[in-house]
Amino acid sequence: MTKEEAKKRIEKLRQEILYHNKLYYVLNQPVISDYEYDQLVKELEKLEKQFPELITPDSPTQRVGGEPLIEFTTVEHKVPMLSLDNTYADSAVLEFDERVRKGLRSEKPEYTVELKIDGVAIALLYENGVFVRGATRGDGYKGDDVTLNLRTIRSIPLRLTTTKKELQNIEVRGEVYLPRAEFERLNEEKEREGEPLFANPRNATAGSLKLLDPKLVAQRKLNIFIYGVGESPRGEFKTHYETLMALKEAGLRVNESVKLCKDIELAIEYCNLWEKERDNLDYEIDGMVIKVNLFAQQERLGHTQKSPRWAIAYKFPARQASTKLKEIILQVGRTGTVNPVAILEPVEVSGSTISRATLHNEDEIRRKDIRIGDTVLIEKGGEVIPKVVRVVPEKRTGKEKNFVMPKTCPSCGGPIKRDESEVAWRCENIACPAQLKRRIEHFAFRGAMDIEGLGTAMVEVLVDKGLVKDYGDIYYLKKSDLLNLERMGDKSAQNLLDGIEKSKQNPFYRVLFALGIRHVGIHAARILAERFGSLKALKEAKFEDIATIYGLGGILAQSVVDFFANKRNLAVLEKLERAGVQLSEEKKVKAQPLSGKTFVITGTLENFTREQAQELIISLGGNVSSSVSQKTNFVVVGKEPGSKYTKAKELRVKILNEEEFLKITGKKK
Ligand code: IVH
Repeated sequence: MTKEEAKKRIEKLRQEILYHNKLYYVLNQPVISDYEYDQLVKELEKLEKQFPELITPDSPTQRVGGEPLIEFTTVEHKVPMLSLDNTYADSAVLEFDERVRKGLRSEKPEYTVELKIDGVAIALLYENGVFVRGATRGDGYKGDDVTLNLRTIRSIPLRLTTTKKELQNIEVRGEVYLPRAEFERLNEEKEREGEPLFANPRNATAGSLKLLDPKLVAQRKLNIFIYGVGESPRGEFKTHYETLMALKEAGLRVNESVKLCKDIELAIEYCNLWEKERDNLDYEIDGMVIKVNLFAQQERLGHTQKSPRWAIAYKFPARQASTKLKEIILQVGRTGTVNPVAILEPVEVSGSTISRATLHNEDEIRRKDIRIGDTVLIEKGGEVIPKVVRVVPEKRTGKEKNFVMPKTCPSCGGPIKRDESEVAWRCENIACPAQLKRRIEHFAFRGAMDIEGLGTAMVEVLVDKGLVKDYGDIYYLKKSDLLNLERMGDKSAQNLLDGIEKSKQNPFYRVLFALGIRHVGIHAARILAERFGSLKALKEAKFEDIATIYGLGGILAQSVVDFFANKRNLAVLEKLERAGVQLSEEKKVKAQPLSGKTFVITGTLENFTREQAQELIISLGGNVSSSVSQKTNFVVVGKEPGSKYTKAKELRVKILNEEEFLKITGKKK
């Protein structure tokens, strides 16, 4: 294909992809299959690879790219991004309507009524129809330039599908949000990694938009609804509603529930309808927005410092009720957290009967001084599980009892532990029935043992049928067991068994990661495997042996020690050993010059940053520790060394100056 031909074909493909994106993301009416769509993208990618000079930033292949940012630049909003006045009651909405009519000297306004999406406000700038910049609201006047992050959102068109003049150069505004299911997936992932969870989808959205690496943002399936325009010539558009429809036509994602209402009563009716329907959406809304429809009227009404006089947010009332707390029980989550749950006298809250509510953790119970027998206020918030907001102290009789946290797991009876760094108690028994499916999924997943055929659905079946009671059992599955399962043919049974067999070849660090020891991610697993060489050695390691390794620290060390102190875990590990899973590092073919040597660095080095020196040592097979002990082989001393230098002299550890360090690492002859 000549370059000229390629150029034509590329443009044709981009047009087509743009068109199908709109059908898929904006209009919810795809006309081709995902497969056909992928073929178009693949062809485009291929041509662009062949003719890289033809790549443009608005090509659909260019969504995720670029290096992580150091920080966001600040963007000034030419038209400030105001907020809305809030109300909670129909009466306040009627008052709003009165104010509007007064402001319009008794002219009767029409209203548009929209869902109030609970996410993060952003502004998107289009120049000549091409998406050039996106920014957060910030303080309303200045926000962060988050263009690269927004480009990863597939429902944001990189190019508009319109020839209308007034839409070529336009700033549109909308709400970025995280669908509920995505929020839950993200939190599960966080929990698996031992990171703090997001409180609600809105926080998760804000956190995602603040990530500096667009590649990470792309993994979170953010989405957007456009609800208006900021700076733009309004041209032929006279109303808000008309504008929204034109934006939709141009390929922007506008919520389909926007409704034009002739008067305020109809608007209120529509708000009340959505209050009942909100749980059926796959994203969170925290109310409705009522806006005067005619731009001319909006302009006459104007705005205050904070908010427009032509719009109001009708927030849904908090869904609260009070009831008696009968009992506090413990519940084990899929990841082993042991959480207190309030058992309530059943009570009705916005249409559903509530008989349980989360109490989060032990500290929260203390902080709110919640006692068994108390009357409590509960709230059904954005989260799925209702929560206890506070005690109603006036209802106390004196017979209420304090809650004492049990020290055993309600599911398996094993000991539970609490990290210093955490509020939650946890059960670390890898065979605990409550966590079993999760544990096995993690064990088998791609980054860990990578067992083909052992996904969520298969784990579900194996555990439910009682064939697997811990991940050690995986290695003792028989073909006859599998063939008894529903919809399991000879071929898939054999594939699964082959996958299991193959996983025995995984290197030790992958096994270590797969064990699911808290805080031991793949990176820590590598360090531990390298340092201790075998499961046996790691099992015998003392807290200090692990805690002093550079990059690991006390919390991880304690977690490893606790893991091996749990007898139930040792029994499972034995099954792995008998099965022939790799529980030690394979011997390195090439001896590394610093292997087995432990270094400590103190002071400032001239030729390296601290990190560079550490990396150099590790790359040559050595270890770096953060404190000097009998086990330290060398202390590298730079300018202005600290107490480690004194300690090294005390313990008579070999001291290297920078010159000597360069020699020992082969950087200098
Ligand atoms: S109109 C002048 N419409 O709610 C303000 N806002 O304080 C124009 N929001 O931060 C806002 N859904 O991000 C409008 N359909 C909708 C909305 C919406 C959510 C957010 C908006 C703003 C907050 C209002």
